[in-house]
Amino acid sequence: MRPTVYIKDLKNHVGEEVTLKGWLYNKRSSGKLKFLILRDGTGYIQCVVFKGNVSEEIFDSADKLTQESSFEVKGKVKAEPRSVGGYELDVTDMKTVAISHEYPITPKEHGIEFLIDNRHLWVRSKRQVAILKIRARIVKAIRDFFDSRGFTLFDPPIITPNACEGTSTLFEMDYFDLGKAYLTQSGQLYVESGAMALGKVYSFGPTFRAEKSKTRRHLTEFWMVEPEMAFYNLDDDMDLAEEFLEYIVQTVLAECKEELKELERDTTKLEKVVRPFPRISYDEAVEILKKNGINFEWGNDLGGTDETVISGQYDRPVMVHRYPAEVKAFYMKRDPENLKVALAVDVLAPEGYGEIIGGSQREDDLDLLLSRIKEHNLPQSFFEWYLDLRRFGSVPHSGFGLGLERTVSWICGLEHLREAIPFPRMIYRNTP
Ligand code: 4AD
Ligand code: MG
Repeated sequence: MRPTVYIKDLKNHVGEEVTLKGWLYNKRSSGKLKFLILRDGTGYIQCVVFKGNVSEEIFDSADKLTQESSFEVKGKVKAEPRSVGGYELDVTDMKTVAISHEYPITPKEHGIEFLIDNRHLWVRSKRQVAILKIRARIVKAIRDFFDSRGFTLFDPPIITPNACEGTSTLFEMDYFDLGKAYLTQSGQLYVESGAMALGKVYSFGPTFRAEKSKTRRHLTEFWMVEPEMAFYNLDDDMDLAEEFLEYIVQTVLAECKEELKELERDTTKLEKVVRPFPRISYDEAVEILKKNGINFEWGNDLGGTDETVISGQYDRPVMVHRYPAEVKAFYMKRDPENLKVALAVDVLAPEGYGEIIGGSQREDDLDLLLSRIKEHNLPQSFFEWYLDLRRFGSVPHSGFGLGLERTVSWICGLEHLREAIPFPRMIYRNTP
């Protein structure tokens, strides 16, 4: 039953007779010829049904196939550079598997709400297939990068008793007799314990933020990869982030050429993503904003527009470091040379895509960390285990988090994060 040949492998079967299985993407006819575009998830091929080569019954069945009907088709493979995918199938036999009735997504334009309502079908379209393939390739690049550099995968829990990234975006639930529990906003606190056990670790999985804003950069459920390294300071952290991003982008450029072409992505912009990336302090970022006529006060966090102006100065990602400690998380270490700023870094993607990485050197001093927990009004009892990491052989350590969908969105050149994940979750959307 299972297919023995897939469209992507047809180059090895030129001149042979093969059977392909899939769905009808499109069709047209001209007299004694029917041209069926078959898709099987690995590619597209034009199947040519010539009346003289098949029985009348088969010729009729080709006529009855509607958009997205499933079928099997047998024929001889020939190279045809003018045809989609570079090959054609001269059909000798065909079998309908199931007729599709009034497939709702037609080649005409549809509104975005309609498309997301039909996301379970929309994922079949050429553009979505290209994006999902690139997403999968990025995930593999992320894993390959860390796995080949001595990192160990370390999986943090998703159900957690406390906040990691501030209390304003927590998804809350009742947890049996134990009171409230929350969906994780970041695995960081847990991967820190992993770094103390294994040296260099990373986590990679879904994270959750009850983002009440409706922007193109925010999802309520998104995937984050979080490396954490013992004995790394902020500079080491930035070196790693830079090498990591270059690796991801250059891998996609080399291995997803067809998909990037389908998306009409301007790849000359991505080719520029090579080390070294510019590194500027928050103070320098504020200067840039002022020079561009933006009324920005030192001490505020950078907003979306500010990030666009700053990243607009460069042709590759820019690393902004040493933010005012006030606007950053409790666990970040202060700069010993200026206690007003945290040893934090945000990496802003070019072309207006904004923050894709947030990271920092962590506070490794027990007493300082304790006072931060108190200042932030966090319940100390829930953080005792985290404080233990400072009680038992504390070491300087750093890490960062890369948002997968923001990275996919930037590399694919998307308008909105909703196309960067199979089933987007946003404030006004939790279906299908
Ligand atoms: O900057 P954030 O909040 O950093 C952390 O969570 C740290 N604990 C990471 C660490 O140091 N281990 O989030 C990291 C990244 C952002 O730069 C962004 O790419 C992504 O996660 N992100 C989101 N992506 C989509 N939708 C949202 N609502 C996001 N919030 C953050
Ligand atoms: Mg951030």
